[in-house]
Amino acid sequence: MCGIVGYAGTAPANGIVSAGPHQALDVLMEGLRRLEYRGYDSAGVAVVANGGIAMAKKSGKLVNLITELAANPLPDSMTGIGHTRWATHGGPTDKNAHPHVVDGGKLAVIHNGIIENYAPLKADLLKQGYTFVSETDTEVAAVLLGDIYRSLADVATPAANGSGEGGRLTEAMQLAAQRLEGAFTLLATHAEQPGVVVAARRNSPLVVGLGDGENFLGSDVSGFIDYTRRAVELGQDQVVTIAANTVDITDFYGAPAQGKEYLVDWDAAAAEKDGYPSFMEKEINEQPEAVAATLLGRSDIDGKLILDEMRIDADVLKTINKIIVLACGTSAYAGQVAKYAIEHWCRIPTEVELSHEFRYRDPIVDDKTLIVSLSQSGETMDTLMAVRYAREQGAKTIAICNTNGSTIPRESDAVLYTHAGPEIAVASTKAFLAQITAAYLLGLYLAQLRGNLFQGQIKDILADLGKMPAKIATILDNSEQIKELARSMADTRSVLFLGRHVGYPVAMEGALKLKELAYIHAEGFAAGELKHGPIALIEEGQPVIVVVPSPRGRDSLHSKVVSNIQEVRARGAMTIVIAEEGDESVREYAEHVFYIPETTPLLAPLLTTVPLQLFACALATAKGFDVDQPRNLAKSVTVE
Ligand code: F6R
Repeated sequence: MCGIVGYAGTAPANGIVSAGPHQALDVLMEGLRRLEYRGYDSAGVAVVANGGIAMAKKSGKLVNLITELAANPLPDSMTGIGHTRWATHGGPTDKNAHPHVVDGGKLAVIHNGIIENYAPLKADLLKQGYTFVSETDTEVAAVLLGDIYRSLADVATPAANGSGEGGRLTEAMQLAAQRLEGAFTLLATHAEQPGVVVAARRNSPLVVGLGDGENFLGSDVSGFIDYTRRAVELGQDQVVTIAANTVDITDFYGAPAQGKEYLVDWDAAAAEKDGYPSFMEKEINEQPEAVAATLLGRSDIDGKLILDEMRIDADVLKTINKIIVLACGTSAYAGQVAKYAIEHWCRIPTEVELSHEFRYRDPIVDDKTLIVSLSQSGETMDTLMAVRYAREQGAKTIAICNTNGSTIPRESDAVLYTHAGPEIAVASTKAFLAQITAAYLLGLYLAQLRGNLFQGQIKDILADLGKMPAKIATILDNSEQIKELARSMADTRSVLFLGRHVGYPVAMEGALKLKELAYIHAEGFAAGELKHGPIALIEEGQPVIVVVPSPRGRDSLHSKVVSNIQEVRARGAMTIVIAEEGDESVREYAEHVFYIPETTPLLAPLLTTVPLQLFACALATAKGFDVDQPRNLAKSVTVE
């Protein structure tokens, strides 16, 4: 949600820009291209040049900014900031686009997040005679920063911490950050201090990239992955100042602070489409590897499961009497699958709750509660706040996350990383399967620790999980049939999805994919709930997609779902069925049947989800929509 990039380099002695340092604009535009999935309402860049700030910004997708820059190029520069916006305060117009340039054209500021006290701050600044040209909270922060910067002008430049490169701009940023409430990452560069970019962060993502004679800032590492894989994780309420050869970190009061350096475990090639027409198709097709990588190296030589970072005593985990799974959207559906697995294997009561509902209902949480959060980005504000709340109540927290070094895992007691690789398409696919895989591992880990399953049983389940990548690949290799059906349904106005047991969250995920990609009304129901109301929606020709459980599972489960298919069909529904290979019983009730390979019923979501992703993606593509950047959405929702 808003992509931010910052760059500070030094001009090479011979004036030729080669491997690095680079021209600021090249770095910023490449970073914005990679970060565009975080918001595409507008984009803008500002560079320090010729004693001033040169800036360009345009509403709409990044391509509009590219066109603008081709017509009106910016001067060469070694320092700059760039922004791609998901609108919060103020519509997606040129005027509201970032950067905001203030202080007589000398200070450029970009922002991700929401400044909650912007109204009183703005009133104060208006009283002082400042004027505003946009409707954004960002401009208020920019004017405030400029005001503080000017007020420091008359005093000697303070001895800043670290290298001292940031000087007055760093101190102004610290003072401004102290006055701001809400969630923010702010980046600023000032014409009077060329070569420096200063940033502040509270509850909003920011990572530093370390280069050679150049340094970077990004909302996430993809903002600078083309230039370096060396990254520094920042803590809460920190100010960071980058110059070509220095990175200084302090808290909001100027006390020196340390970041944690790490090496990004993927490279720029992983964030390219690799010949696929969209990131979404690429990511759907990467699912065998995403699941395999998430399973890899998760057990020690005795076959015992291990978590990545475990800061919870085994004895404490043994006394846990309740689990609450917290997540949003697709991740919450992965959480529902986790509930079925954890309760079945560990016999611990497990609730799943949408993160944004959790802390507003006075939930019962104590030191015997284990919170399991699921988040692809690790930055979703709703989930972060829910995790913090639970920790305050004494709960232990485990994060299942796809983004190394992000805030939620950093603030959790234990982490189980999914290794799906960068997920660029806004709608989640491979991260979902990787989350489910990690949730199974967590369930098995707890069952092992608490002695609910014998080691042999765990080994058998792990062996079944190990076969999943090949089975997913089989579905992908035979995807033409479902894609063809999807294309033929481009004019469909509504699709219902039904499932029971672990098929229920899969049905909801199938519906969500269709809504967000193809803008078609879609609902996922528990098949048993149908007769309690939703069956009234069924009329002649209504498409209903049914996720049928394995006939080898609990007998009643399969036959109940088959009965549900008959019920909707009898009322005119056009039934599309996802069933297990060899299940002939569904044929006579279905217009279309798609078979998935056989597997243990509890593990089936890793397979049944895939045809639904393919369906949504193909249907949206047939309608001519951009499946990577669906309207109104952004990846990584960093506002509440
Ligand atoms: C839907 C989708 C979203 C995310 C949700 C949570 O395709 O991607 O529903 O699952 O915004 O995001 P994370 O997992 O980053 O916390």
